Amino acid sequence: MSRVRAGQAESRHKGPSHLVIPAGIAFGTGDHLTTAMSLRLLEEVSRKLKPGWSLVDLGTGSGILALAAKRFGAGRVIAIDNDGQATKTAKANARTNRIHRIDFRIDDVRRWRSPRQIDVVTANLFSELLIEILPKLKCANYLILSGILRSQERAVRRALRSNKIDIVRVRRRGKWIAILAGGMRSAASIKRGRHRGHPSKKRV
Ligand SMILES: C[S@@+](CC[C@H](N)C(=O)[O-])C[C@H]1O[C@@H](n2cnc3c(N)ncnc32)[C@H](O)[C@@H]1O
Repeated sequence: MSRVRAGQAESRHKGPSHLVIPAGIAFGTGDHLTTAMSLRLLEEVSRKLKPGWSLVDLGTGSGILALAAKRFGAGRVIAIDNDGQATKTAKANARTNRIHRIDFRIDDVRRWRSPRQIDVVTANLFSELLIEILPKLKCANYLILSGILRSQERAVRRALRSNKIDIVRVRRRGKWIAILAGGMRSAASIKRGRHRGHPSKKRV
């Protein structure tokens, strides 16, 4: 069992300050470096957004990033995984943590039809798949990508450049990296330390 502390962002929101994720068959107890880096970036981004911001979590596994987003003040949350067992576990984890109104979907992210605009997309997958679906991820104001090996960083950077997506920050731990990127307007504003949009009003 993992207890994931929500950290600083939590203090702005009501509710418990941690998540309980029982060790299970779905990936994502918070111990893996790719999950830990994604959580950090998600917390950082959530501090820039108004409560009620929207998130799509691609490859949700145990649901840990979707659940954390709710703790960080997200409103509409969609969590997608192509593994039915993972989705079942993620739903159970939501119940354990008394977190409601996450739209869990069993689907392949390649088939996911991206909305026109969304505040945050998290995608802890693997490089080849991330590169393949990158054109769809431009809908996100903030993009958190992980599951990328250091040896694949150049290929992912190249793909981001050709999709005109700016990199805001790269975190590195062990052999893994996680990238915070901005799909449209966010990169410049997060670099300046402010957000000009009204994310809570955007449609998912
Ligand atoms: C590395 S785990 C990440 C789990 C969790 N989001 C985290 O950050 O710890 C990747 C997840 O993506 C799912 N996945 C892999 N390929 C997928 C695809 N094509 N479509 C949807 N989900 C996929 C896997 O089933 C797995 O649960």
